[in-house]
Amino acid sequence: MMTRSSKRSKRVRVWFVYALWLVACLLLSLPSMSRADAQSAATKAAVCTSCHGLGGNSTTGEYPSLAGQTSRYLYLQLRDFKAGRRSDPRMSPMAANLTPDDMHDLADYFAAQKPIAIDFKADPVKVEAGRKKSEEILCTMCHLGGFAGQNEIPRVAGQQYAYIVKQLQDFRDRKRTNDAGNMTSVSKNLTDADIENLANYIANLQ
Ligand code: HEC
Ligand code: HEC
Repeated sequence: MMTRSSKRSKRVRVWFVYALWLVACLLLSLPSMSRADAQSAATKAAVCTSCHGLGGNSTTGEYPSLAGQTSRYLYLQLRDFKAGRRSDPRMSPMAANLTPDDMHDLADYFAAQKPIAIDFKADPVKVEAGRKKSEEILCTMCHLGGFAGQNEIPRVAGQQYAYIVKQLQDFRDRKRTNDAGNMTSVSKNLTDADIENLANYIANLQ
């Protein structure tokens, strides 16, 4: 006949085994869950690569590279395209049907891709003039040294030359206004030559 205390210890053992089983299930499901997430992000991203390049490494100045961009910035841009705060005839329709979850998945996916150096022959005289201008305006106060970016401030290092030129012109000419005024105020006194110089300098950074 069992004593009361041995009954209790048996109950404790049963609970212990049950708890172990729960923990084991949880641990087993974690990697497969994240694998499934990664797979679905890659599937969602496939449509984007027709313009933004494989893994988000663009091969033309018409489309920005997304590889290695900060996840926070990518998410905010997708949100702004969908809401109409930023607009482009090729990109806006692509964001129109994305849910916030899609946007986070896509942003994390492209942020995790490795940026590949672009094929751009910079003009050394313009690179030097661009470097000086960038120091004068303190661009890296926000974009960090080497234009590496942080959180909601984009990485611009190694971005496509023609795309950088277009964005700086769009900010200056107030065609792109989703920057809470940060870029509008820095770009308002830039000449076209300043913009070319800056883009020569930044597109060349790794
Ligand atoms: C038909 C071509 C096309 C497709 C497909 C496309 N995009 Fe774009 N995307 C563009 C263009 C063009 C721009 C730049 C617009 C501009 O000049 O302001 C852009 C800009 C962006 C930006 C802003 C980048 C930055 O540096 O500010 C993000 C983020 C982005 N696209 C994500 C995506 C995602 C995610 C997908 C897939 C769901 C996608 N795009 C599909 C053409 C495309
Ligand atoms: C006060 C902070 C600040 C300063 C200074 C600043 N930027 Fe920016 N920049 C931003 C922010 C924030 C954004 C993103 C705006 C948005 O969300 O649309 C941005 C966006 C950009 C973009 C667009 C990138 C893309 O992928 O579309 C370029 C190019 C850029 N900055 C270049 C420069 C240059 C060149 C300078 C110096 C002349 C400069 N920035 C100075 C805050 C700053």
